[in-house]
Amino acid sequence: MRYIPTTPLRSTLLALLLTLCLALPALAAQKEGLLLVAFGTSVPEAQPALTAIDKEFKAAFPHSPVVWAYTSSIIRAKLEKRGVHIGDVTAGLEELARQKVDVVRVQSLHVVAGEEFSEMERLLVSWLARHPDTFKAVYLGRPLLESRQDAEDVCRAVLSATEGKRKPGELLALMGHGQSHGRGDMVIEGMRSTLSFADNLAVLATVEGSRGFDQVLAAIKTSRASVIWLQPFMVVAGDHARNDLAGDEPDSWASQIRALGLTPRPVLTGLGELPGVRAVFVRHARDSRDDLLKQ
Ligand code: CO
Repeated sequence: MRYIPTTPLRSTLLALLLTLCLALPALAAQKEGLLLVAFGTSVPEAQPALTAIDKEFKAAFPHSPVVWAYTSSIIRAKLEKRGVHIGDVTAGLEELARQKVDVVRVQSLHVVAGEEFSEMERLLVSWLARHPDTFKAVYLGRPLLESRQDAEDVCRAVLSATEGKRKPGELLALMGHGQSHGRGDMVIEGMRSTLSFADNLAVLATVEGSRGFDQVLAAIKTSRASVIWLQPFMVVAGDHARNDLAGDEPDSWASQIRALGLTPRPVLTGLGELPGVRAVFVRHARDSRDDLLKQ
C-alpha cells in the first residue's frame, strides 16, 4: 500500500468526514418516543387538562409516539373498571420498547419533585437496571417547578386565568397540593414569593404541607378583600379542586370563606389547561440532559 502523506489539516478533515459518515445513519435511524407520567385523575371533568397536554406534546414532537402512564394505582384501577386502560411507568416503557423506540423522553407532569416524582424516578432506574439494553438513552424531564424561570412562567400563566375578571382589591387564593412531610415545601415557598412579588393579592397555600388555609385567612385579613377567587394550583382540576377547594362540605375553602360572610369565586382550571404551563413542560422535555442510562 502506497503511503499518502497528509497534512495535519487534511487528516483532521478526513477524520471528521469519517465520523460524520459513521454517525449520520445512526442519528437518522434513531427513533424517539415520549412517556408522559402524571399522577392521574378519575374525575371526567378534569380530563381537559390532560388532553391539552397530550395535544401540546404531539404537536411539539410530531415524529414521536406519545405514551401515558399514571403513577396512582388507585386511579388506574378506578379507570380500568370503566374500561379505560392506562398503564404504570413499567407498562409505558414496555409499550415504547414494542414500538421500537431508541431514545425515550420521560416527562414528569408533577408540579414539584416530591414524593410522587421520587417514586417514579426510582421505578424508572430500577427497570432500566434490569433492562439495560432496551433503549439507547432515556432522558428524564424534570417536573413543572425547578428554576426561577419556571416559577416566573407559571406565575404569568396562572395570573392570566382570572385576568380581566378579577377586579382590583379582589384576592386570588391558589390551592397547591403540598406534602405533609416536607420535600416539596421549599419549592412552594419559592413559588409563593414569585407570585406575591408579581401580584400582592395572590396567595398560594396547600392541602398538605406547612402552608395551609391559615395562609389564605391571613391574606384575607391583611387585604380586607371581600371577594376571593379560588383556583387550583394542580395540573388537573380534579378531586381536590372540586371538593376541598370549591365543594359544599363545610371544611372546603369556599365554604369557610362563605362562613366569614365573604364571596368565594372558584375557577376550576387545572394548570394543564394553561398554555404557559404546558410550554414549561415541553421545554423541560426538550432540555433534559439527564440520561438515566448513564450512571
Ligand atoms: Co391528594
